Amino acid sequence: MAGVTLCLINQKGGCGKSSTCFHLAGAFAGLGYSVLAVDADPQGSLSQGFFGSDEIENLPAEQTLAAVFDESTFFVDRRQLIRQTSFDNIAILPTNLHLATFNAPTPESAGMIQYSLRDALDEIGEYDVTLIDCPPNLYQCSWNAMIAADYVVIPVPPEDFGTQGLRAVHQCIDNARKLNTNLRRLGHLITRYDRRLLVHRSYEARLRTLYQEMVLDTVMPEVSAFKVALACRQPVQAYAPKSKAAASMRALAGELLTRIENRTNRKTMA
Ligand SMILES: Nc1ncnc2c1ncn2[C@@H]1O[C@H](COP(=O)(O)OP(=O)(O)OP(=O)(O)O)[C@@H](O)[C@H]1O
Ligand SMILES: [Mg+2]
Repeated sequence: MAGVTLCLINQKGGCGKSSTCFHLAGAFAGLGYSVLAVDADPQGSLSQGFFGSDEIENLPAEQTLAAVFDESTFFVDRRQLIRQTSFDNIAILPTNLHLATFNAPTPESAGMIQYSLRDALDEIGEYDVTLIDCPPNLYQCSWNAMIAADYVVIPVPPEDFGTQGLRAVHQCIDNARKLNTNLRRLGHLITRYDRRLLVHRSYEARLRTLYQEMVLDTVMPEVSAFKVALACRQPVQAYAPKSKAAASMRALAGELLTRIENRTNRKTMA
């Protein structure tokens, strides 16, 4: 497979962006793909998931993604920023609060910094799958992710009834597509879903009516295995491969790959 880069975007906090990135990395790795997890959120949740908070919080800026945004560290070889995790096939470009100073709220007028992540990933070279976790806003870090990515996944919690928020996300994707014409939407991913709740079933129905095939068939259930595995610093695929959580993540990885394949074929035909 040619390398693909996916970013997870939503300005809504706590909707499962980092959790999905973390466990999806495990699912892709379990399928035999080499995965690069890029933590583009100054909160550093994805990095802490793999290495714990003490190790990540103490990293100097020049050993994190912040170096990629900082003109004064242009001499740092981007490949040196990559850390191997304790899982075969999963490497990470880590982040901590040093990135916050670069997450400016008006990214589109920011000159060459908009391309920092894209250029760094070009320099780092190819992984089968690169997953970029983004902060809960549409500032410079999310913008850089969209400029660097081939595909966007939009995790949505099934109780987010404000359409305003999603509209802003789609507007931002449209704007990013002016600079990155490769960028495609893979779909909305319903996260933290509890089938027993009428409110969740109603939300799902409404989202599918509104966005049709732009909603992924796979839905991420709210199950404690995701949290427990994360607390043990293991993707659920490694922690409990036979669990419902692991099966859901594998299904998501499979559906994303199918959608990517279909879109690639369509592009070739066009
Ligand atoms: N499907 C799920 N089942 C159970 N818990 C989940 C699930 N998805 C996420 N969580 C938990 O919900 C919390 C928020 O998830 P997460 O950190 O992934 O959200 P986020 O969108 O990255 O948040 P932020 O916007 O702050 O970056 C975490 O404690 C996570 O473990
Ligand atoms: Mg997060």
